[in-house]
Amino acid sequence: EDAEKGRYDHFMRKEISEQPTALAQTIEGRIDASEEGEPIVTDGSEAASRGDSVSTPGADGVSLEEFPPGTFADVSAIQFVACGTSYHAALYGQQLLARRGVSAQTFRAGEYAMSPAPVDDDTLVIGVTQSGETADTLESLRRAAEGGARTLALTNVVGSTAARECDDAMFIRAGPEIGVAATKTFSSQVASLGLLAERLARDVADSESEDSRQLLAELSTLPETVQRVLDETQAMEVVDRYRAMDSYFFIGRGVAHPVAMEGALKFKEITYEHAEGFAAGQLKHGPLALVTPNTPVFAVFTGRHTDKTLSNVREVQARGAPVIGVVSEDNREVIDTVDAALTIPEAHPDVAAVLANVQLQLVAYHVADYLDRPIDKPRNLAKSVTVE
Ligand code: G6P
Repeated sequence: EDAEKGRYDHFMRKEISEQPTALAQTIEGRIDASEEGEPIVTDGSEAASRGDSVSTPGADGVSLEEFPPGTFADVSAIQFVACGTSYHAALYGQQLLARRGVSAQTFRAGEYAMSPAPVDDDTLVIGVTQSGETADTLESLRRAAEGGARTLALTNVVGSTAARECDDAMFIRAGPEIGVAATKTFSSQVASLGLLAERLARDVADSESEDSRQLLAELSTLPETVQRVLDETQAMEVVDRYRAMDSYFFIGRGVAHPVAMEGALKFKEITYEHAEGFAAGQLKHGPLALVTPNTPVFAVFTGRHTDKTLSNVREVQARGAPVIGVVSEDNREVIDTVDAALTIPEAHPDVAAVLANVQLQLVAYHVADYLDRPIDKPRNLAKSVTVE
């Protein structure tokens, strides 16, 4: 086992470092890119594959072998079912779709399995599950299929039950993940959802946009961008300053909301310290009552809704809480306002979410390491929960 960890003390730390490779595998061959690395809009035709089609009508820059254009033309409703970290990835996917004009709903699989949402033949139910074996997610997918829905497994494991049982499967190709706390698979799920959302948007809502083009261009260079966030100097400084507090809060808006929830989940799973993730706008509806000088608040900024989240930052600072901003390295206003910054390269907001999450993974890891927790196998938790 030690040999497999290489130079790292834990699988989790190794898997955090493997994210550039995992992401490169996730996107490989799935984004049509020109030599300059800009996505070329294609329709998968011969001309496109020669690279000389720059803007073919009906094209979208995504080249998913398993889902050619039109695959989802009959879909009129989309639901996500998932648990844990995969649920946060699904929430992210829902937001990407919403911005492309496609509405989707996201359900915690433990709930959906008991009381499924209504479906019909035109409903696509996407099970987001790293292992493809989570009992609640499998049961949800089975219930959806019984109701007549088309099912799709977004998973890391090719021979998994979810992949075998669903009508369709998309593999995130992150490589094996040993640490119980999901890290690289979250990043690969999110990148996969970025691609899948573009296909769905094209097929379901006939949507294409400059924003799609920009997002695909940045997804195609995400492995290199993530590499730049793996320097843990800032995370270690934050951990030194804020590692012995009462509670840890994580806030964000838009796609930063699932990132805040994921940051808190990672933190509590491996440090055993209390941590909660909230939508930043929700603070004043309850959580603010818990904010004190001993509750650091991690505020995630992606470049959208900056002013609103900054006003939340000031609200908690006024109550004495230290704020750690996860923010673009160019955003002086935020960096000057927060008490400590975890910076990320300037990026499309949907990509910034992935980068911010990597910083939060590093913080959780180093707090847990300082506290000498069994990081790869936290008490009471399992990599894959195969009972309902
Ligand atoms: C367990 C794991 C989590 C994981 C969740 C869903 O709770 O500890 O890390 O996110 O299951 O797993 P799945 O394999 O369905 O993504």
